[in-house]
Amino acid sequence: MSAHPSPARPRLLTGDTPTGSLHLGHFVGSLENRLQLQDEYDCYFLIANLHALTTRSQETADIRRDTLEIVKDWVSVGLDPRKATFFLQSEVPAIAELTWYFAMLLGYGRLMKNPTIKDEIRVKNLGDNYSFGFLMYPVGQVADILAFRPKVVPVGEDQVPHIEMTRELARRFNQVYCGVTGKTDDADHETAGGVFPVPEVKVGRVARLTGTDGKNKMSKSLGNAIFLSDDPKTVQKKCNKIFTGRQSATDPGVVEGNVLFEYHDAFNPDAQRVTQLKEQYQSGSIGDGQVKKELAEVLNAMLSPIREKRAQVSDSDVLAVLRDGTQRANDQAEKTLAMAKKACDFGFFHRTVAFKD
Ligand code: TRP
Repeated sequence: MSAHPSPARPRLLTGDTPTGSLHLGHFVGSLENRLQLQDEYDCYFLIANLHALTTRSQETADIRRDTLEIVKDWVSVGLDPRKATFFLQSEVPAIAELTWYFAMLLGYGRLMKNPTIKDEIRVKNLGDNYSFGFLMYPVGQVADILAFRPKVVPVGEDQVPHIEMTRELARRFNQVYCGVTGKTDDADHETAGGVFPVPEVKVGRVARLTGTDGKNKMSKSLGNAIFLSDDPKTVQKKCNKIFTGRQSATDPGVVEGNVLFEYHDAFNPDAQRVTQLKEQYQSGSIGDGQVKKELAEVLNAMLSPIREKRAQVSDSDVLAVLRDGTQRANDQAEKTLAMAKKACDFGFFHRTVAFKD
């Protein structure tokens, strides 16, 4: 399963935290984008297993299992390890080292203004009980990205503040250690001598997919997700439970802001049928039941080939793909780290990272 992506293509990096297998929100927010981009870019896809420790430091066996599940999700939707590099964050030491350098260039106040951090503290009810490491993860993410010096970072909308911080820290590093001036355009940082490009963010087709509770963003931890690995019955049950607040099937239904139609718009390939369903719903001639039934059919048709492909991927396939990709990722990240250390007068000795088994 090993091949070498063409280095002539512009580089792209993105990744997922192993918090469980991936769901429909990931699909439209990011996976779909990656599918398109894997042919045009030299893609690096990372499993952020160290980030999973931020909230689950006592559940490491689960993190390991979820790590393998995510690679299965990737392969089953069509991401191809012969085209892209799939790798494991925890086995790329350069990332942890770069985190140290970037952390020194970031003010504590700036970090605490990051809206995603604020949101996570609120939504996950962390109060004052988050670890020191939790605050480190966005800086770690900056290092995940910049270790590969990518041009583009495709992510879901909630991740945009982290990419903004990445851009700030790339500029800051280049200014402090590489003689790049504050007037240099973002696009010119590397030609002006900077180690890091200022990468662009790219948000998916559906920036935020609502969960089956009809309120919050789809998320495993909120129990409102439809997973790519759900079986047909589970999908049907989850669709049936979607709450729209509509009293009776003969009331004029509201389409705007209705999660059933948000899903039809996102996943139903038959746009004409969706328009028809909306008209009938608004005029009170069909109920939620019919809309849900057709939704489950659409989702199951979409998920069926994904399920089939998933069943063909074994844990040992996944480990082989990760080992191969992580070796390549190390080759790249070590180069970047050496450049960064040289720029800030820490370039003493040279080294390589290699796996023994
Ligand atoms: N924080 C991202 C998420 O939870 C995962 C992630 C970690 C990531 N490092 C990254 C995404 C680097 C893009 C680039 O979805």
